[in-house]
Amino acid sequence: MKNNRRNFLKLSGLTGLGVAGAGALKGFAQEPANNLIKHFDRKPPMQRFNMCDYAAPRLDKVRVGIIGLGDRGPGHLEGLVKIEGVEIKALCDVRPEAANSAKKSIDGYGHKPVIYSENSESWKKLCERDDIDVVYICTPWDMHTPMALYAMEHGKHAFVEVPIALTIEDCWKLVETSERTKKYCRMMENACYGSLTTLNMVRMGYFGEIVHGEAGYLHNLVERYFFNKNQYWDMWRLKNNARAVGDLYPTHGLGPVAQIMDINRGNSMDFMVSMSTNDFTLAAKAKELAAKDDFFKPFADLSYRGNMTTTIIRTKKGQTIKLGHDTSSPNIHSDWFKIIGTKGTVFDDPKRISNGGEKWLSEEEAKAIEKKYEPGIIKKMGELAQKAGGHGGVDFLQNWFMVDRLRNGLPLDQDVYDAAAWSVIVPLSEWSVTNHSSPVKIPDFTYGSWITNKPFDISLKEGGNTKVKV
Ligand SMILES: NC(=O)c1ccc[n+]([C@@H]2O[C@H](COP(=O)([O-])OP(=O)(O)OC[C@H]3O[C@@H](n4cnc5c(N)ncnc54)[C@H](O)[C@@H]3O)[C@@H](O)[C@H]2O)c1
Repeated sequence: MKNNRRNFLKLSGLTGLGVAGAGALKGFAQEPANNLIKHFDRKPPMQRFNMCDYAAPRLDKVRVGIIGLGDRGPGHLEGLVKIEGVEIKALCDVRPEAANSAKKSIDGYGHKPVIYSENSESWKKLCERDDIDVVYICTPWDMHTPMALYAMEHGKHAFVEVPIALTIEDCWKLVETSERTKKYCRMMENACYGSLTTLNMVRMGYFGEIVHGEAGYLHNLVERYFFNKNQYWDMWRLKNNARAVGDLYPTHGLGPVAQIMDINRGNSMDFMVSMSTNDFTLAAKAKELAAKDDFFKPFADLSYRGNMTTTIIRTKKGQTIKLGHDTSSPNIHSDWFKIIGTKGTVFDDPKRISNGGEKWLSEEEAKAIEKKYEPGIIKKMGELAQKAGGHGGVDFLQNWFMVDRLRNGLPLDQDVYDAAAWSVIVPLSEWSVTNHSSPVKIPDFTYGSWITNKPFDISLKEGGNTKVKV
């Protein structure tokens, strides 16, 4: 007998349940009972202050210090010096040559940053200065939270690379500190700036109600990055792949989808499950290299995270998000995403749009629709940002938008709750993967204020007056 759907109902004795029974089954399938879902409860009793939509006092000049000038830090620096009102006050890297070369790269722009490179604690001196407004943190992942906390405690806004934290505890610490100090704690999730037109289309109802989103980070980092002795400081990224399992880098994929689904601003992530493949690549590569080069011997006998981790998240509004993370298979690099709504679908990289029919619209039709729905920020800055560069312009756009908001005393688009919610997928996916993909509750870092928090503005109806020197 074939075990098709009808037979399954007979086998499991559920055919007599009728309408009420079907409802109960539906409810069970969608929300695991409390004893089936892992809760990591460490919620402080109440929200101290709501940082969503908070506007910090406006700044005439945006005085910046940057910690970490390896690959990423100089990218921010290159964009920042082209933006009106920015003053680069200090650069810090534990490697003096990295800090000095970054300083040299901005010769001619009129900045005279002080260098902090004495030792691995010198970044504290940068944070302690009284002439800095914003500290950019572009160091390895495990340093992000302590550096951001210290910066906020010393009166600075913390702009931190992705992911902002590696543990649930650290996510809560960031939330509490940002609320107490009223300093922005913003993760620099640049991928969100590549999907602003889609976000506007969603807000204008083009895709109807959003049902499902898919996104992720597929980038083969094995040869050029992980095992490249000259790429990352102290081989930190390879070490992280041996330290943890699960999705280590969820925010490039999740950020844009979370904004599209109004997460923390009218919606919330409820619970998730994660599953990983075995490691098919990294241990073999480490052994192969160790046989030829003693440098790699310490990496030869480690066990590494599996190639692909898939995470499925359910939102409080009943949608699903599927995240993929694979940095060790020979993928074509893609920060892809797909959004499915009740009236249409969008797929990005390559961009395709459907308006509910069975086929994608032609390229010309899609382009015309996109033009029509461009939000204010893209209309004003899209072309210029592409010229200025950095991941196709999104890096510049993000830095320009941040400086412009600070100079106009306007709230930022991403806040500490987004940083925490998008980053907490790292430890939660690790827990789920190591527990046979069991479901785990996603903490609500907004303490329920997601219900009334409003979506942020992308129309540029306020601000937008910061000039660019290109
Ligand atoms: N948003 C993006 O598109 C994007 C792209 C690349 C990297 N990143 C993120 O940027 C961060 C940095 O990555 P990277 O590729 O530049 O790594 P990297 O290894 O090239 O640079 C890290 C730098 O931190 C410095 N450092 C280490 N310890 C320090 C300390 N105690 N004090 C001061 N400096 C210290 C190192 O000397 C190094 O120069 C990571 O979080 C990464 O995930 C983001």
